[in-house]
Amino acid sequence: MKIMIFGSNGLLGSNLYRYFSLIPKYRVIPIDKSIDIRDFNAVLGIINKENPDFCINAVAMSDPDSCELDPKKALDINYIGAMNITNAGLKFNAQSIHFSSDYVYSGVVKEYWESDLPDPLQFYGKTKMAMENSLQAKSVILRIPFLYGINWAKNSGFVNTVYHKIINKIPLYISDQRRRYFTWVWDVCKYVEQLINSFEVGVYNLSNNDNYSKYEVVEKILKAMKLTSDDIFMVIEGHTYIDLANRPTDLYKLNTDLLFKKFGNLFSNIDIVLNAEINAFIDLDEKDVFDQAY
Ligand SMILES: NC(=O)c1ccc[n+]([C@@H]2O[C@H](COP(=O)([O-])OP(=O)(O)OC[C@H]3O[C@@H](n4cnc5c(N)ncnc54)[C@H](OP(=O)(O)O)[C@@H]3O)[C@@H](O)[C@H]2O)c1
Repeated sequence: MKIMIFGSNGLLGSNLYRYFSLIPKYRVIPIDKSIDIRDFNAVLGIINKENPDFCINAVAMSDPDSCELDPKKALDINYIGAMNITNAGLKFNAQSIHFSSDYVYSGVVKEYWESDLPDPLQFYGKTKMAMENSLQAKSVILRIPFLYGINWAKNSGFVNTVYHKIINKIPLYISDQRRRYFTWVWDVCKYVEQLINSFEVGVYNLSNNDNYSKYEVVEKILKAMKLTSDDIFMVIEGHTYIDLANRPTDLYKLNTDLLFKKFGNLFSNIDIVLNAEINAFIDLDEKDVFDQAY
């Protein structure tokens, strides 16, 4: 089975690339930014050339503040780009999968089901809502919350950043507010595989069950490094955010019953994951981590 991954240098895209490359029955075609998904003909051309069975769209302008600053670019990438991938794919019988966000909701209630109508607070969420409305009848759309994990293409991401700040003794300014459902990016890949193998168009919620503040996750990273908060210079920030985009303030969850009924609970324990990721950093220098990925 041939799988084309758009956005293969991103956090999710690099993990999808790594995940599917490890399973022999899949042939994976990574697509980086040299194919601009806003350009329909460029997308059509690469799909025509490679003839994939599935196109996974991991491209996004995903920083809500950047989306407020340049709404046209945000709409072109998150909405038009997604439409280009699905519509170009369907011309060659390739199905597509896109990612939406818990930011399609305002968070006024504690839990949202797939059937609940989106009410985004910021432009980023509006681009995702537009994408969902246009594509849910012809593609799979997976709504996800805050992702953590290693970006294998760039050696970046929340865990990498915190780890490298700690070992380089760079002060950490971290918030103990805004709890989120931290979801491991590799666990998302597992569900993407399931969705590909029993393809049924529509919107699906996906979320880990445990919620943490970033401060709590840093404490876990410190524990995995056998350090404590006394060993580093850390400033705990409270309500000090200066955001351009409105963000939900209260904790709320995407209900995952639908996916759990179909495929079970495939989630990993965050302490085990962080231990493994930190050990990978300790065992390898950065170059080795990068070389392992590709
Ligand atoms: N990360 C999260 O916590 C989170 C939470 C909820 C939903 N999501 C959704 O999950 C999906 C993946 O997010 P992510 O965090 O993996 O994003 P990411 O790390 O920012 O990666 C996005 C990728 O898209 C590429 N790209 C940007 N503009 C492009 C264009 N016009 N044409 C082609 N490629 C382009 C970027 O290339 P460069 O790297 O070269 O710039 C980057 O590799 C997105 O749909 C996002 O909205 C993410």
